[in-house]
Amino acid sequence: MEPSAPPRTYRVKSFGCQMNVYDGERMAELLGERGITPAPEGEEADLVILNTCHIREKAAEKVYSDIGRLVLAGKQAEAQGGRQPLIAVAGCVAQAEGEEIMKRAPAVSIVVGPQAYHRLPEMLDKAAKGERATDTDMPANAKFDALPARRKRGPTAFLTVQEGCDKFCTYCVVPYTRGAEISRPFRDLIAEAERLVEAGAKEIMLLGQNVNAWAGEDTKGRRTGLAGLIHTLARIDGLERIRYTTSHPGDMDTDQGRALIAAHGEVDKLMPYLHLPVQSGSDRVLKAMNRQHTADSYLKIIAKFRAARPDIALAGDFIVGFPGETEAEFEETLRVVDEVRYAACFSFKYSPRPGTPAAIMDGQIAPEVMAERLQRLQTRLAEQQYAFNQASVGKTCTVLVERTGRDPGQWLGKSPWLQSVWFAKDEGAPAAIGDMVEVLLAVAGPVSLKGLVCETLPA
Ligand code: 5AD
Ligand code: SF4
Repeated sequence: MEPSAPPRTYRVKSFGCQMNVYDGERMAELLGERGITPAPEGEEADLVILNTCHIREKAAEKVYSDIGRLVLAGKQAEAQGGRQPLIAVAGCVAQAEGEEIMKRAPAVSIVVGPQAYHRLPEMLDKAAKGERATDTDMPANAKFDALPARRKRGPTAFLTVQEGCDKFCTYCVVPYTRGAEISRPFRDLIAEAERLVEAGAKEIMLLGQNVNAWAGEDTKGRRTGLAGLIHTLARIDGLERIRYTTSHPGDMDTDQGRALIAAHGEVDKLMPYLHLPVQSGSDRVLKAMNRQHTADSYLKIIAKFRAARPDIALAGDFIVGFPGETEAEFEETLRVVDEVRYAACFSFKYSPRPGTPAAIMDGQIAPEVMAERLQRLQTRLAEQQYAFNQASVGKTCTVLVERTGRDPGQWLGKSPWLQSVWFAKDEGAPAAIGDMVEVLLAVAGPVSLKGLVCETLPA
C-alpha cells in the first residue's frame, strides 16, 4: 500500500446489535481525540469503518460488497482529484475472518476486532506509512481503560457493562467473536453514567451479551450484581430511566437474578420491560441448543417478573428451523408464545455459523420449511404486539421525546414499555428532544401508538 496523508474525516457504518452501535460511538470518540471529524452528509470520508456483525448469514458477503462499493467510489473520487478512502473493518466479522479479509480484500488497510479497537490510533499511524494492520487480540477490559471519556450527547445512551459470553449456545458465534464474559468495574460504570447524564442523557440502556451475568464490587467492596448496579444508578439525579438488555434465563435463577427480579418492584426508574430470549419452546431443541433452561423453567421466570411488576412488557428472541426441529417441536414454540403474550419480539431463521457445533449437526432444515415456520411465528408475534398496544390504550404515561416523527409535525418517543409513541408538536407546551411528556395513549397501531398530551386534555 502507498503511504497516505492521515485521514481528516471519518464515517462509521455499524451493523447488527446495540453493542456495535455503542462500539461505533466509542471509535468515533477515539477519532475525535485525534482531530478526525465526521464526514459531512453527502461527502466521501477519508476513513470508512465497517463495524460488522457476524450473527446471521450473508454478513461476510455484505462486507465484501461494501468494500467493493467503497473502492469504486474511491476510483471515481480519484479521477476528480480526490483520494481512495482508508478502509477499516471492525466488529465480529473482523474477529472471525480477519486473515481472510486481508487476503481477499487488498483495499482494506485495517482489521480490528471488538476487543482491540482502542488501538485504532496506532493502526492509523501504520496505515499512513502504507502498512496494513490487523489486531484481533482479546485483552479483558483493556479497551475500556484505554478509551477517552464519553462524549455522547442526547436523551438516550447506551452503556456497555458486560461483554462476551460463556454460554456457548451451539448455534451462536458470539462466544468466539466477543470472547469470554467480562464485567466492567462498578466505579467505572457509575462514572460513565454520571458523564452521560451531565451530557443530557435521561435514559441509559445497560448493554451486555449476558447483561444479567454482570458482577462486581460496589464502592464498599461488597460483591454485587446487576440489581445492585441499578439501585446505585437510580440515585443519579437527572437520570430518569434505566433499561438493560440482553438477559439469559440461566442467570435469573440465582441470588443475583432474584434481586434483579425484585428490583422491578422496587426501583421506579427501572423501566417495566424485559428482553429474555427463549429461542425455542421444545425441550429437546433447547437441549440441542445448549440453552441450559427448559420451556417450563423459562415460563416460571416470566411468572416471577410478572409477580414483581405486573405490567412488565416482555420481549424475546426465537430461532426457527434449528437442525432436527420437527413440526411438533415448532408448535411447542408457538405454545410458549401463546402463554407469554409478548409485547415485541425478534425472530430468525436458523443460520449455520461456521465453526459452531450446530453447523455440522444432522437434520439441517430446508429453507422453505424455515420460511413457512417463520411466517407463522411472526404472524402470531405481530398479533400479540398489536394486542399489547391495544391494551395500553387509555393509560397515561411519560414519553421520553427522542426525535421528530416521520411527519415533521410530530414528536416521537418511547413509553416506559418501549413502545413508539407519537404526538402532535402543536399540542400543549412546546416539547423538545429529551423532554419527558405526560401523554394519554389514545390510539393503538400495530407497531406504535398515538398519544395526546395530558395538559391539553379536559380535566
Ligand atoms: N441463526 C439464527 N439466529 C441466531 N441468533 C444467534 N445466532 C443465530 C444463528 N446462528 C439469534 C438469537 C439471538 C439473537 C441475537 O440472534 O435469537 O438471541
Ligand atoms: Fe449467543 Fe447463547 Fe451467548 Fe446469547 S447466550 S450470546 S445466544 S451463546
